[in-house]
Amino acid sequence: MKVLVTGGAGFIGTNFVLRTASTRPDWQVTVLDALTYAGNRANLDGVADRVAFVEGSVADADLVDSLVCDADAVVHFAAESHNDNSLDDPWPFIESNIIGTYRLLEAVRRHRVRMHHISTDEVYGDLELDDPARFTESTPLNPSSPYSASKASADLLVRAWIRSFGIEATLSNCSNNYGPYQHVEKFIPRQVTNVLMGIKPKLYGQGSNVRDWIHVDDHNDAVVTILENGRPGETYLIGADGERDNRQIVALLLELMDKPPDWFDLVTDRPGHDLRYAIDSSKLRAETGWSPRYQDIRAGLAQTIDWYRRNEGWWRAAKERSEAMYARLGR
Ligand code: NAD
Ligand code: TYD
Repeated sequence: MKVLVTGGAGFIGTNFVLRTASTRPDWQVTVLDALTYAGNRANLDGVADRVAFVEGSVADADLVDSLVCDADAVVHFAAESHNDNSLDDPWPFIESNIIGTYRLLEAVRRHRVRMHHISTDEVYGDLELDDPARFTESTPLNPSSPYSASKASADLLVRAWIRSFGIEATLSNCSNNYGPYQHVEKFIPRQVTNVLMGIKPKLYGQGSNVRDWIHVDDHNDAVVTILENGRPGETYLIGADGERDNRQIVALLLELMDKPPDWFDLVTDRPGHDLRYAIDSSKLRAETGWSPRYQDIRAGLAQTIDWYRRNEGWWRAAKERSEAMYARLGR
C-alpha cells in the first residue's frame, strides 16, 4: 500500500512513520511536510532509505494533487497545533488546517483515494471539572480557540465531503498526547526541559485544568487500526482514560526528576483556557478491539523524561525560541 503521510516530520507524524516502518514494512510511505518551526526532517533519518520525503505545504493544490494521485491512502496529520500560537497569530491555522484540509479533500475526491483525518478532542470545547460526562462521537462541536476552531472546521469539511461526494474517509479525535519528539512549546516537554535546565515548571493559572493523557504510540496504533478496520465515513474518539490535572502531572515530573513537590511557578493563565477534556473511547474499543498499552502514566513519563535527557541536541535550539515566545506572552 502506498501511504501519503502529511505532517510526518512533526511529533505524532514522526512517531507514526518510525513505528509503521517496523509494524507495516510492506507500506511505501511518502511524507509531505512544510517543515515549519514544528517539523524536523532529521527525525526521519533512520528510515530515510525507505521513506520518501517531500517538502511542501498541504495548502499547495498542485503539489497535493500530484502526490495524492500516486497514493492508495492519505493519513493527514499536518496542522498548526499549538493553542498559544493560535491566540498570538491565527492565520497559519486557517491556512494549514482549513485550506490545507480542503486541498487534500479535493485531491482525494478527484483520485478516489482512502483518507484518514487526524483531529483533536478540543473541537468539542470543554467540560466542567465535576461533570461526570466525557466526550463521545455525538458531542456537539463547540471549539474555544482559533486552533480548535480551525480543527473543527476541517472536521466539518471532511464530514461534508463524505456525505456529498462519497469519499472514503474516516476521522479520529484524540486527547492530549505525550512521548518522544514532542515540541518543547507543549506542556510536558516544556516542564521536563525546564527541570533539566534548572528552571522551575510553569503552571498556567492555578494548575487545575484537566487533560486526558495518552501515549503517542497508543494514539498511532489506533490510527493504523482505524485505517485498516474502521468503517468508512465514521468518526472515532481515541483516549486512554488518562485524566490528570496539570498540578498532578507536574508533581509526577518533579518526583521522577528528584525535585521538591513545591518547586514550580504559577504563571499568568492562557486566555479562554479550556477547563477539562475527557474522552469516552468505547466505540473504538468495541468495534475494533483496540485498547491502550501504556496504562501506567508514571512509566510513560519516565520513558519520556529519559528521551529528553538523552536528546538535548534535538531540543536545545527550539527551547530558546520557544521560551522567547513565552517571555513575550508573559507566561
Ligand atoms: P506538530 O506541531 O508537532 O507537527 C505538525 C507537523 O505538520 C510539523 O511537522 C509541521 O511542519 C507540519 N505542517 C504544519 N503546517 C503544514 C502545512 N501547511 N503543510 C505541510 N505540513 C505542515 O503537531 P502534532 O502534535 O504532531 O499534531 C499532529 C496532528 O495531530 C495535528 O493535526 C493535531 O491537530 C493532531 N492532534 C494532536 C494532539 C496532541 O496532543 N499533540 C492531540 C490530538 C490531535
Ligand atoms: P498544551 O500542551 O499546550 O496542550 P492543549 O492546550 O492543547 O491542551 O497544554 C496542556 C495543558 O497544560 C493546558 O491546560 C495548558 C497547560 N500548560 C501549563 O500549565 N503550562 C505551560 O507551560 C503550558 C505550555 C501549558
